[in-house]
Amino acid sequence: MAREKWRSGLGFVLAAAGSAVGLGNLWGFAYRASQGGGAAFLLLYLLVVLVVCLPVLVAEMVLGRSTGSSALIAPEKAAGKNWSLMGWLFVIAPLGIGSYYAVLMGWTADTLLHSIFFGLPSDINEAEAFFGSISSGSSVLLGQLVSLFLTAVVVSAGVRGGIERLTKWCMPILFALLIILAIWAATLSGTWEGYRTFLLKWDSSQFFNPTNIRNAFTQAFFSLSLGIGIMISYASYLDRKNKLPKEAIGVASLDTAVGLLAGMITFPIVISFGLKEAVSESTVGALFISLPTGLGSLGFTGRIVAILFFSLAYIAAITSSISLLEVPVSSMMERLGWTRYKAVFVASSLLFLLGLPSALNLNILGKMDSVFGGVLLILGGFLLSIFLGWIVPSRFDQDLDGSNSNLRLRKYLKFMLRWVSPPVIAFGLIVSVIDLAKNWSS
Ligand code: PHE
Repeated sequence: MAREKWRSGLGFVLAAAGSAVGLGNLWGFAYRASQGGGAAFLLLYLLVVLVVCLPVLVAEMVLGRSTGSSALIAPEKAAGKNWSLMGWLFVIAPLGIGSYYAVLMGWTADTLLHSIFFGLPSDINEAEAFFGSISSGSSVLLGQLVSLFLTAVVVSAGVRGGIERLTKWCMPILFALLIILAIWAATLSGTWEGYRTFLLKWDSSQFFNPTNIRNAFTQAFFSLSLGIGIMISYASYLDRKNKLPKEAIGVASLDTAVGLLAGMITFPIVISFGLKEAVSESTVGALFISLPTGLGSLGFTGRIVAILFFSLAYIAAITSSISLLEVPVSSMMERLGWTRYKAVFVASSLLFLLGLPSALNLNILGKMDSVFGGVLLILGGFLLSIFLGWIVPSRFDQDLDGSNSNLRLRKYLKFMLRWVSPPVIAFGLIVSVIDLAKNWSS
């Protein structure tokens, strides 16, 4: 059976950007940026994206396009059986993330529906009670199940008919909503204070704070969906004609812009409505409590804003969760010869079961996020930089030769991939593992 191809280069960019832009940009950026890093967090995050992640993003796409294989098979196809373990990492990590991602999507959907049909909480106690109700019992399972079902429907319709079609519609809507909300947030009383408190506060000691370093690395890799086979899978449906480095730059820029814009929405709200304490708890859950509470005090306008914001979040989330499902699905299809339907059914059932512990226990969700959504992605990024920079470097040149791309840009990327990414990512990985171990044992 011939492998599917994207209808157009733009379709690929939008799908990859759709994967990148997700709850990580909306919730993840906000809660990591609120952990005290301030401008040092922002600067480190931007540096990691620009200097380390961009070359790895191109490398991951090259591996997918040049092998035309799923994430499980691509490494061994490129460098032999010894590398098959890397393929397994690329399947296990998306399964891990996908499992709790569906739970977060469920919370988002519940909050959206509640804002539409019942309105917003009037104070923080009411909001906490509401969050307690959506994050436990049967409603959390229902939210998770429905979100997985919708994801499965899109993925079973295939690369063109499902993934490309959905993201083509969703991404423009998402940008429109984001810009409307950022403009609205700029009119609030606490706007500048919000930016200053969370994004611009200068404290150079934060550059050496291990938690801040871990946050910056995690945010960069997670937000770009990098290092875990998503970009391999998506690029494996890509034509040789497409100019890869350029398209990767497009994806990274869109994703980073959305992260920053989202911060420009959440932080003014948090400050304008005096919710700094609630957010400083720095868990994802805190945002589900503080945002609706803040907006609740604005009456009807607040309700409209909440509906727009949570719709935005859900749209962003589904274009990411389809990419998380596509990785195991394409791998099962290739390795086991299954049909797409069968693979979708098996993989999404697996995601549901793996997600149950996270659905029932917030603590476990946090731990899953730190391991699968943090350390493993950084490890994957490190392996990719070694793999394409040192093990099969000619693949990088050959693949990009065919796409007629800018030679200087390619030389720069290759240099960074070989000499800069590996040591810098190794440093980020070591700091992150140690910091995480410390956090867990304390
Ligand atoms: N990048 C997505 C987000 O920001 C999440 C994600 C991570 C999706 C890793 C796929 C792989 O929410």
